[in-house]
Amino acid sequence: MAARTATVRAFAKINLDLKVLNKAADGFHELRSVFQTVSLHDTIEIGWEKSRKTEITGTGEIPDNLIEKAARGVLDHCGATARLHFRLTKRIPMGGGMGGGSTDAAAVLLALPVLAGLKIPRPELIRLAASLGSDVPFFLLGGTAVALGRGTELYPLPETPAKPVLIVAPGVPVSTPEAYRAFHRAGDGKLTDTQVIQYIESFQSRTWDLSQGRSGTQSENDFERVVFPQHPVLGSILKKLQTSGANPARMTGSGSALFGVFTTKDQVLRAKAAVETLHPSPRGIPARLLSRARYRAAWWRQLQQHMDATDGMQWPPQSQYASRRRNER
Ligand code: C5P
Repeated sequence: MAARTATVRAFAKINLDLKVLNKAADGFHELRSVFQTVSLHDTIEIGWEKSRKTEITGTGEIPDNLIEKAARGVLDHCGATARLHFRLTKRIPMGGGMGGGSTDAAAVLLALPVLAGLKIPRPELIRLAASLGSDVPFFLLGGTAVALGRGTELYPLPETPAKPVLIVAPGVPVSTPEAYRAFHRAGDGKLTDTQVIQYIESFQSRTWDLSQGRSGTQSENDFERVVFPQHPVLGSILKKLQTSGANPARMTGSGSALFGVFTTKDQVLRAKAAVETLHPSPRGIPARLLSRARYRAAWWRQLQQHMDATDGMQWPPQSQYASRRRNER
């Protein structure tokens, strides 16, 4: 059988809001967050070939190998084997809080079943995503979404306009587990029941505003408190974004990347020039907020050749080879 290939864009995320509550029994912190996809992306070429034995190449230099873990997860779940080749072009800053590794993993969860003619029911796909990392399930959804629990329980929010955004990569990677540890050392994460209720009410109120298009000067990211003192340049970047007119301007996830949402592309370019005067010089990356509709359209486009579109465009994308594979058995 001929090999099948696809080249897919794996988009990054920012957190428009991020509140960390207490640690739950599973060791993960209870979160309230708003996730948002952006146009900045990695590119992954995926090659699939039928084989009796699974062989995966091209994932060698990738730290943590989430791409390989995702690929093995898909094949094992379906009891399938294949020869797979990956080529990753990395653009999303690593250790940036932009879900760079997670989106690559999610891209494999979306693309590989379509290439390989496999069908994974959505609840199982979400479970597989969560087993790979807390941010992975969001990339199965895209757009703007509220995240609860560990960050894996997601509910879509109304679509956002494709506003221009400046992403700022300060070049100081922050490890997520280390950021959570710093959070505890700072005495956070031991909230009383009353505080938890207050924080949830306030998050809820901000999210209602956001759902009406009033994006938030009031937004929060609890990690700024613990990560900024370790890397003073981050606070300076935030100030530059604010004085350049960003609303909101925040750090994303556990850092270290920051973002500013603007009204015009000119503002983005001026803000980029302003932040790049700082020392050590950060890198400004112009991008746009990416709605769920555009996220899905990009995915449908990049898998079009292999998709089953007989019942209209489905989400997640379905394979045109799935029924053929059943017949082959
Ligand atoms: O799930 P993920 O691999 O992204 O998590 C990395 C680490 O971040 C976890 O091992 C945990 O220490 C911390 N974490 C957490 N609470 C969350 C998400 C992550 O404590 N909701």
